Amino acid sequence: MGVNFMANIEYDPERQLFHLHNDTFSYVIQVIRGYLVKRYCGPALDHFSGTAKLEDFSHAFNIQNDAAPYSLTTLPLEYSTLMGGDYRTPAYAVRNGHGQLIGNLKFDHYQILAGNESFNGTLPTARTPHGQTLIITMHDETQTLAVRLKYTIVGDLPVLLKQVEYRNLTDTTLTITHAASLQLDFDDHAYDLITLTGAHLNEAKVTRQPLTPGKKSIGSNYGASGPQGVPATILAAPATNEFAGEALGVTLLWSGNFNYTAQVDQFDNSRLVMGLNPELFAWQLKPGKPFVTPEAAVAYTNDGLNDLSRIFHRFFADHVMPLPRKNLIEYNTWETTYFDVSEAKILAEIPKAEELGVELLVIDDGWFKNRPNDAGQLGDWVPDPVKFPHGLRPVADAIHARGLAFGLWVEPEMISENSELYATHPDWAMQYVGQKPLRSRNQLILDLSQRIVQDHLITVLTNLVRDNHIDYLKWDYNRHFSQPGSPVLPPDQQGEVGYRYTRGLYRVLKTLRDTFPKLLIENCSSGGGRLDGGMIAYTDQTWTSDFTDPVYRMKIMNGFSLFFPLKIFVSHFTASPNLQDARLTPLHTRALLSLVGITGIECPPSQLSPAEAAAVKASFAFYKANRKELQNGLLFRLRPSHVNQDEVCWLITNAAKTKALVLTSVGVTSPIPHYQHVLLHYLDPRLSYQIDNTKNATGLELNHAGVTLPLAHGDFSATLMELTAVTNLPQPTAAPTLDQITTQS
Ligand code: DGJ
Repeated sequence: MGVNFMANIEYDPERQLFHLHNDTFSYVIQVIRGYLVKRYCGPALDHFSGTAKLEDFSHAFNIQNDAAPYSLTTLPLEYSTLMGGDYRTPAYAVRNGHGQLIGNLKFDHYQILAGNESFNGTLPTARTPHGQTLIITMHDETQTLAVRLKYTIVGDLPVLLKQVEYRNLTDTTLTITHAASLQLDFDDHAYDLITLTGAHLNEAKVTRQPLTPGKKSIGSNYGASGPQGVPATILAAPATNEFAGEALGVTLLWSGNFNYTAQVDQFDNSRLVMGLNPELFAWQLKPGKPFVTPEAAVAYTNDGLNDLSRIFHRFFADHVMPLPRKNLIEYNTWETTYFDVSEAKILAEIPKAEELGVELLVIDDGWFKNRPNDAGQLGDWVPDPVKFPHGLRPVADAIHARGLAFGLWVEPEMISENSELYATHPDWAMQYVGQKPLRSRNQLILDLSQRIVQDHLITVLTNLVRDNHIDYLKWDYNRHFSQPGSPVLPPDQQGEVGYRYTRGLYRVLKTLRDTFPKLLIENCSSGGGRLDGGMIAYTDQTWTSDFTDPVYRMKIMNGFSLFFPLKIFVSHFTASPNLQDARLTPLHTRALLSLVGITGIECPPSQLSPAEAAAVKASFAFYKANRKELQNGLLFRLRPSHVNQDEVCWLITNAAKTKALVLTSVGVTSPIPHYQHVLLHYLDPRLSYQIDNTKNATGLELNHAGVTLPLAHGDFSATLMELTAVTNLPQPTAAPTLDQITTQS
């Protein structure tokens, strides 16, 4: 990140106008009659004079108040509540000692600070060394509630962060029942709403639909963010496509219950509110104890959805994720043996895995005491004496002796009733008083809202990692909340459990990361069920789906790629017939599509057929030679993400655009052969590229005239085209080529 990118916040005291901007983006807020009003959000402006007027007349049924001549239900407000004149979806609801809503907030004072001041050290916060922060403090007229709105403009990207802190100004408790991280008002509704929704084995389905009168809400009350919905959405102008047009994306750095609502109101204005899900939430705001919402990030572009994704990818990679490290090619035991892992089996796989080019061996579920299946003993984390008679350490040592890394699966947030932990601490499980515990996958959830439970996990995981020289943890989470009660919280604080749980989870993860800065952590929730801006702040990579069919995994990653960078996606070479849908997929496709993000293998190396072994070996060698692009490259979608989602076509390049790969994957092919052309759009137009070590063309031509993709051969095929810049650059090196990986089988 260059220091020449700087954010600036200017305040014009005469007009009470704040202009937050950097080189590419401006956001303008004005105090009008004491209310905080959004005046502009878009490309950077030198100066905001306010040529676009605010509506200064009121409609019938307007509630008269001191905003006149403006009406509170048509003003584009920054953060508003119900029953004070604004009838739109509220951003907050706080009740006072009378049980009544605390009315409209008005500007009190502001501060401008360098960087990003975190309102709460445990919640994920973006790093913004070259950013600037504006904090506006608002009070209600009874001086009961203070709300601090934090706006941080990121220095090098068109990104604005928003976070809110509530303070109780009285000496009696207030109750927060709704606390959004952001509200964005627009004086029109000419947008399409793009959402990611899904299910286990079917994550990140992209839907694009016009905003229409009424409300559209996506949310989670599952305790985790997904997979039913991802806390991230886009408002795009109707003409916006992957390559051009206006789009505004919003996401939360949060992994728990959330909600966002897009509303078109009676006057055809629109509003987007995103934050905690009010459904199960109620927080006792005690005097002197602030409450902080998750941080939200707003990104803006005029250059299409790929550019919006580029901004989010850089935002997450440079400002949110742990500092960069090399993610390793993994052999994972799950689809090899399921729960039936053992010392003997893993040791037997080492030589073959090494020969294939594997860098990390991971023992998945089943390694601990009494775990023959998923009814087993979660919570104790002691190696099974039969499967691992000498513990895990000799396995780790044997793997390390070959120069490879050692990884282990854990599901720390869970507890089984047959565990010793449960026998000793039944009150550490989440539960409702007097009601039979509801299991899912035979397990209960630990009550991470309790600090003692967090401390226990920190100790257990620290010892596990330290004693066994663990280099990598796969952090899984395989059930959702039911009966979200905490045995130790008083009745009036039971609505706090979800928030306290997620905050507790972050504390455990953060402590572990601080203790073991080199430890790699993979985020998993039965696949991509908790892929969000919060988890990626503490993890290095994400298992995007338990559906390991390569063609469908591409489709899932294509959806996630709207927001999340290539470097977090994990793609493993898996068996055919596939273990979830029994589909037979060509070997070529299986090998090729395991290359994106972080590659690996999930079938037993020793049991591969000679053809499979050769394909995997060649693909890992190709991966190592092209790691810069395949693991850390820029990813551009060359086909629309929401149309025919079975067909994916990506351009992957390095940052300098001197190396590029065009990767396609198709579902069921048409019987009518038809050439498919794609424009590459994002190559450097000044460079000349060699295509597949054969012909040359300029970036300009490739961007505008495009390339013809190879004809798809049969269902579920995949293709790769390699482009290497040749202008003023050394000739391409003799890295293994696609043909060497495998031929169609
Ligand atoms: C769900 C994960 O997504 C799988 O990869 C595997 O780790 C299982 N859990 C183990 O129980």
